[in-house]
Amino acid sequence: MYVLKDAGEFGESLISRTGVRKGEEDRHLSANACLTPVCAVHGQAVTTVEGIGNTKTGLHAVQQRIAAAHGSQCGFCTPGIVMSMYSLLRACYVEGGGRAPTMKDMEVAFQGNLCRCTGYRPIIEGFRTLTEEWERCGSRLSAVNGTSTTNGCCKGLANGCSKGDPNGWCCKANGDGGCCSSSGELLAPGDVEILFDTSKFKPYDSSQEPIFPPELKISPELDHQFLTVKGPRVTWYRPTTLEQLLLLKHKHPQARIVVGNTEIGVEVKFKNCLYPVLIHPTKVKELRAIQHTATGIRFGSSVTLNEIDSTLKMVMEELPEHKTRIFKAIVDMLHWFAGKQIRNVAAVGGNIMTGSPISDLNPIFMAANCEIQLVSKDGRPRTVIMDGSFFTGYRKNIVKPDEVMLSIMIPYSHEGIFFKAYKQARRRDDDISIVNAAFNIEIEKETIPIVKKANLVFGGMAPTIVESKKAARIIQGRKLDMLLVEDVCNALADDLPLSPDAPGGMVAYRKALTLSFFYKFFVDVYKKIDHNDSDKQCLPERILSASQEFTGKQSQSSQYFQVVPPNQPKIDPIGRPIPHLSAFKQATGEAVYCDDLPHLEDELYLSLVFSTRAHAKIVKVDPGPALAVKGVHAFFSASDVDPDRNHFGSEISDEEIFAASTVNCVGQVIGAVVAINQATAQQAAKLVNVVYEDIHPVILSIDDAIAKESFHPGTNRVLKYGDLDAGMKTSEHVLHGEVHIGGQEHFYLETNCSIAIPKEGGHELELICASQSPAEMQKFISEVVGMPASHIVCRVKRLGGGFGGKETRSAIVALPVAIAAIKLNRPVRCMLDRDEDMIATGGRNPFHGKYKIGFSKEGKILAYQLEVYNNAGYTIELSCSVLERALLHSLNSYNIPNIKCEGVSCKTNLPTNTAFRGFGTPQAVFIVENAIMDMSAILGVDPAMIREKNLYEEGDTTHYNHVLEHCTLKRCWNECLKRSEYNQRRQEVNDFNRQHRWRKRGLCILPTMFGISFTVSFINQTGALVMVYTDGSVLLTHGGTEMGQGLHTKMVQVASRVLEIPEDIIYISETATDKVPNGPPTAASTGSDLNGMAVMYACQTIKERLKPYRTADPKGSWQDWVNAAYYDRVSLSATSFYKTPDVGYDWETHSGKPYNYFTYGVACSEVEIDCLTGDHQVLRTDIVMDLGESLNPAIDIGQVEGAFIQGYGLFTMEELTYSPKGILYSRGPGAYKIPGFADIPAKFDVALLRGAPNPRAVYSSKAVGEPPLALAMSVFFAIKDAISFARSEVGLTGPFRMDSPATAARIRMACQDHFTKKVEIEEGITPWNIVP
Ligand SMILES: Cc1cc2nc3c(=O)[nH]c(=O)nc-3n(C[C@H](O)[C@H](O)[C@H](O)COP(=O)(O)OP(=O)(O)OC[C@H]3O[C@@H](n4cnc5c(N)ncnc54)[C@H](O)[C@@H]3O)c2cc1C
Ligand code: FES
Repeated sequence: MYVLKDAGEFGESLISRTGVRKGEEDRHLSANACLTPVCAVHGQAVTTVEGIGNTKTGLHAVQQRIAAAHGSQCGFCTPGIVMSMYSLLRACYVEGGGRAPTMKDMEVAFQGNLCRCTGYRPIIEGFRTLTEEWERCGSRLSAVNGTSTTNGCCKGLANGCSKGDPNGWCCKANGDGGCCSSSGELLAPGDVEILFDTSKFKPYDSSQEPIFPPELKISPELDHQFLTVKGPRVTWYRPTTLEQLLLLKHKHPQARIVVGNTEIGVEVKFKNCLYPVLIHPTKVKELRAIQHTATGIRFGSSVTLNEIDSTLKMVMEELPEHKTRIFKAIVDMLHWFAGKQIRNVAAVGGNIMTGSPISDLNPIFMAANCEIQLVSKDGRPRTVIMDGSFFTGYRKNIVKPDEVMLSIMIPYSHEGIFFKAYKQARRRDDDISIVNAAFNIEIEKETIPIVKKANLVFGGMAPTIVESKKAARIIQGRKLDMLLVEDVCNALADDLPLSPDAPGGMVAYRKALTLSFFYKFFVDVYKKIDHNDSDKQCLPERILSASQEFTGKQSQSSQYFQVVPPNQPKIDPIGRPIPHLSAFKQATGEAVYCDDLPHLEDELYLSLVFSTRAHAKIVKVDPGPALAVKGVHAFFSASDVDPDRNHFGSEISDEEIFAASTVNCVGQVIGAVVAINQATAQQAAKLVNVVYEDIHPVILSIDDAIAKESFHPGTNRVLKYGDLDAGMKTSEHVLHGEVHIGGQEHFYLETNCSIAIPKEGGHELELICASQSPAEMQKFISEVVGMPASHIVCRVKRLGGGFGGKETRSAIVALPVAIAAIKLNRPVRCMLDRDEDMIATGGRNPFHGKYKIGFSKEGKILAYQLEVYNNAGYTIELSCSVLERALLHSLNSYNIPNIKCEGVSCKTNLPTNTAFRGFGTPQAVFIVENAIMDMSAILGVDPAMIREKNLYEEGDTTHYNHVLEHCTLKRCWNECLKRSEYNQRRQEVNDFNRQHRWRKRGLCILPTMFGISFTVSFINQTGALVMVYTDGSVLLTHGGTEMGQGLHTKMVQVASRVLEIPEDIIYISETATDKVPNGPPTAASTGSDLNGMAVMYACQTIKERLKPYRTADPKGSWQDWVNAAYYDRVSLSATSFYKTPDVGYDWETHSGKPYNYFTYGVACSEVEIDCLTGDHQVLRTDIVMDLGESLNPAIDIGQVEGAFIQGYGLFTMEELTYSPKGILYSRGPGAYKIPGFADIPAKFDVALLRGAPNPRAVYSSKAVGEPPLALAMSVFFAIKDAISFARSEVGLTGPFRMDSPATAARIRMACQDHFTKKVEIEEGITPWNIVP
């Protein structure tokens, strides 16, 4: 079994497990560490990432490839991904008869892994080199710049260009779009630079893998032991015979049977369930049996889902197709069921017995009328049919407490049976269903197809899985035609009622899905059966698109960048694609994150007590029950802090550390329990009794805030330029619109964490903290505990992702641990659980925009008026700065002569929203891009034409009086148009849409322009410290933190160029406030610009001091010069300081420059949508980014791809849902979906603009972190483009509103048709959920 480092539901910690005895074959499975009880691996070998290789004794091939291919940024997900790949390799080579995995195997293996940084592309590219496809034509597949690694390029061929191009230029004729130059330009030989060099990869040799430990192999008794493991609260039994199992269940009828622990584990961890007796029946052979019978296959209840999958696939290969139609439906469904790590351990019995209303298998079992065998100690074995009477209520069934499910019998199908299952989730891979369905009909056909029997079963439509009896009755005896569809749909609408406030929300969508699924099924069956000619005409070809499904597409990608000039010295690393300096340690698990630090002697753990009310008076806080728990040391609340110091805040100190008298959101910190360990502290924190008195109103949404005029004082901002009224008057068209964009959770894989260590009897404090702002944490602590900042050191080694979420919000954890550490004079640690982090720390501000746009009939925008609101949450924190940047970016990249933009921050009962990559820009850009889509609908032209017509050009002035210099927007636009073959594909999209009624494609190209600098001018400063030791090694420290963005790597590259020494003798250990004081937060994309200049200056000082020794000994080495200087008593350390010149904008006078320069980019995306389900797939994205002269193209391309995929999540699937009382429902990876491996564009090309040096940042580079995120809205507008084609099918034209994100629900409901008309819902009832 292979365990990923710290996984849970997103595979950040996986393990690999093997369990074999003498004479058996090795089996290798990956599993989630956090869902694997230690008792469940008795007798098995468990391998973690540390067990397969390390940087000292040698890396495993998997570890080397992910790191070298730039697939590890912050690295927090890396061990998990390494272990998924490792277990796949082992499973293929050991169980698969020595074969390499295929790309398809890889797609399945990573279904349960998530990464928030990389955008997945480099991980796939690195691991592609371990696949069968690579082995088959490895020499033809190369990872060279600009080469599609799927199809190969002639330049990657071992023998050069097949067309025999005499100059070694790419012939562009390698077919399948695999040519390295799709842009039409020939690539010169010198242009080819590798992003990673596969020739340096260690070959994978499966014979060198560790063997299964012999001491386990020779011990069959490990399997035969009746195991009892007693803990203080739970007893675990592992019986080995059916008799023992039944006896135990008889003795403990309330005991839970646990196999995969994927239901129980979640209930215990997240739902506070306690099961004192657990019985693990995996050694009971009857429950593990698979029997092939004359009528079907009987699976023991402990057979895992992957075992079922492989058994059914084998049988499907052998039996005629008509016998295995139910099996096929199960296999198809299992592909979308959780991730591989879950399916490796989860059993069929667990899914049936849990009886979730959204179980993916139960609808199939019910539609197939499967038989379940039940056994008990005293009763007779009984067989029950899974039909409408099996489930009796929410997660209840007819099985008696002392009964055990023995097996399930899945029948063969026969000719005449048509069986299919459907599932729609927020994300296709590894997500639970919104609605699912299984349909089983039997057709009798003499001359026309008549339905003999039908079974239509739905999940997600009631507290249990339900059959639609009325629809089944209607079908029976009827001819299969469109009239039948109409009647069935009417019956379904009656049979599956959902009240407007039904749990799960999305009521209209869920109802529409039931009809859509049936229609898809109808078309599918219709297509498969024999018809006479007249029937065939009823369903034209374009209608058959209803039955199409999305299948995984093998990804292709290309990366284009400027290579370093041939005369650049080899030692100079600037511009070269050097891997992230910690990547190898991240891949082996050696990289240390805050919570990895070994526990200190006397260390205590702190757990926060959060408000459970959105707006209430605190009547009483009683920590008594918590303090009574053994091991609890203290409870702290507002009464333990001086009221004058119980506040913190970045711009205004308006947030309480511990709520004193009122709470203003669910998740606000009320107190903290400190105990001997994490389990005790967390358990005790839940016992603190808080008595509330609700205060009204509870304001959650922007609409609520506007209605109640709830705004943060002093946050009104206005920007005016030109003459708005005159602009509107001269416009031939003026239109009004309104649109909303929801918030976003940062979902860094490492949650907030801090360790406070008091020193010198409490007169000094060291804070180890996962924060983007160590200096700010130091300042906050100093203010709160009254200790001079000089006595406090804040250290940050690395962060497991930040994205703005750890800029100021880290204080929520850092301040309580610091207070507790000082008061108790002991080290105190706290790391938030995922759900705690999600409810308490806030995220991206939702925005609502109302606009008016005036334009000419040719599409020239003449005037734009914007009224914008952002949802700040209960304190203002950074939200006003976010609003300011939003107003500055409210025109995106367009030159609009007359504007008025105004905004205000709404005060709501939500957690404080904060910085998030883009800082208001994506939201503001989204609004103006919406206006452009509306314009295109009015004018009947391609929005690309409007965008192009209005693009800023060199010398234009922005609406805040910034004259644009070195503006490369047009260049990016033209290059993207060309690379993406936009014009040709626009035609192809139109053709596709004419030919398909239920599938539509959409295309969008749009620009971005992102201002670089903190808009609060004083923050644009930092420092660096360089220390050279007498052995020649260099220790570099600067003011920025490393959170995956490769900042330390770039800084080492800068130092290496200045000092002219190899980068491997330069080291960055950490960011610390005692090395570089008063550093800014690492944010606003300014990390490399600010720190790069500071590092350059400090290194130049050292270089200058060494100059005389160099001149005196020109043939000497770096070490010689350092030594000579040392003996000459020359200082070998230097500090420096850098501030960005001439930045600062005055909102009163509208003068000054808010930005140092701009980063430009353009993206083009194409999507395909399923108009019946709202599902979509991104077919292709092309990005052209101007990053000046990139310091490190591999890191920069990684940032572009990572930001794009994070933006893709923002604009399509990440949706925060709250209850009307302000409780966050989407508080974990189960309910909040970020993009996974399968979501990246099938073709994903990134090109960095060549020949565009930037004179305003270090070595002509440009900032990259945030700018590309907004480009992901090209996917949103491509979806909107596709929807408009769907709407035109029913005569709907003109602008329509669609808010962001473009979830499946929104897409489906925007594609209006006669199905959606049947599901209109009652208004005026408070829905189950609110999207603020
Ligand atoms: C990340 C994640 C993703 C998931 N995705 C999906 C999904 O896409 N679709 C879906 O349908 N589900 C999903 N699930 C739910 C879960 O994985 C399945 O329900 C799984 O089949 C449960 O099996 P298990 O062996 O892990 O159950 P356990 O947790 O081990 O047991 C579950 C329950 O079944 C009872 N039980 C088990 N065996 C017997 C028996 N022989 N007799 C009597 N009672 C028994 C137990 O008492 C217990 O209450 C997901 C879960 C997770 C954690
Ligand atoms: S590198 Fe994957 S989460 Fe950061």
